Amino acid sequence: MAMADLASLKRQFIERYGGTEAGIRIYHAPGRVNLIGEHTDYNGGYVFPAALTFGTTMLVRARTDGTMGLASTNFPLAGRIDLKSVTYDPDDEWMNYPKGVVRELMQAGFDLGGGFDILYCGEIPNGAGLSSSASIEVVTAYGLLELNGHPTDTVEIAKLAQRAENEFVGVKCGIMDQFAVANGRRNHAILLLCDTLEYELVPFESGPYRLVIGNTNKRRGLADSKYNERRGECEQAVRDLRAAFPDLGLLGRLTPDELRAHEHLIGNETVRRRARHVVEEIDRVRRSVEVLKRGDLEAFGRLMNASHDSLRDLYEVTGPELDAMVDAARSVPGVLGSRMTGAGFGGCTVSLVHEDAVEAFRREVGARYREATGLTADFYVCSIGNGVERIE
Ligand code: GLA
Repeated sequence: MAMADLASLKRQFIERYGGTEAGIRIYHAPGRVNLIGEHTDYNGGYVFPAALTFGTTMLVRARTDGTMGLASTNFPLAGRIDLKSVTYDPDDEWMNYPKGVVRELMQAGFDLGGGFDILYCGEIPNGAGLSSSASIEVVTAYGLLELNGHPTDTVEIAKLAQRAENEFVGVKCGIMDQFAVANGRRNHAILLLCDTLEYELVPFESGPYRLVIGNTNKRRGLADSKYNERRGECEQAVRDLRAAFPDLGLLGRLTPDELRAHEHLIGNETVRRRARHVVEEIDRVRRSVEVLKRGDLEAFGRLMNASHDSLRDLYEVTGPELDAMVDAARSVPGVLGSRMTGAGFGGCTVSLVHEDAVEAFRREVGARYREATGLTADFYVCSIGNGVERIE
């Protein structure tokens, strides 16, 4: 994936907003890939994401008239909005993400001076489940705070960006995406306990193996309503389990043994399977970090496979496209593990592939996936990059 050409972006900024290069600041926030720990964040469990090297570049310059200009090299829609009237408008499409962040920043009491102009350049395919929305939210929060001389605490920024998405955009996502995008570090994955936001940067040393992202290019369609439905099922499980654990707040607090001993309390069979996925997936994250710290990539690959199988059979968020891609990936020699990443229902897979097998992987998985679904896949061999930062 090509990184933005900064000289050309500055020219486009000046064409749109006038003036000279003076005063333009440039920030970047990555996308993310989750290595394991899916649908655990809103249950207070562990996740294990990593920041990508590609994401969203933002050019910003201060104004004095109390307005903000929003534009993107990815979409024709652009606008100028008065800072006094920042409200959700479905016609504003992508601009609702930065608007939500601006409103959260102002509600949190941050003075944004006399306004600003922004030009974004997104390098993440939209709707692919690689957190293009968290990336634009976090780069906006970080850049506007820094531009106006406020502290840039990246844990607080992740929380604020999640609030913007929950309350302004209306998607009830967990904290994983915003946290990874804000706090990633080159060549490290983030072991995050979503309940307390305690985290550890774990060096991701994969020797001759590469992380390969496969984009199914399947539109995520009903993803948001299904996502909220899963959240509801987890809440139902907690209510049922309170018969044995009266103080239980989040499903992620239970160990697999505790759940096994009490799962008969969950009345609905589907809800029982959802709970089993969540609790066992959290345990798989714990075990993944253990095996990776010993350099046992084979064991990590098996955990990735088990994660996908559980998301397919127990949590039911994969779908034919993700399953076809994962099946094809696992049949290629040199692949240690393959799973969906992100919310599911389309989007991307992530596979651990020997460097000598990457070309065969692209060819064979691409061909078998097209045969199975009629869709054309895209592949990205990924490096782990930094979280949000100022680049100029
Ligand atoms: C989406 C959400 C995250 C997380 C994942 C599933 O990416 O934004 O908060 O719930 O799905 O693990």
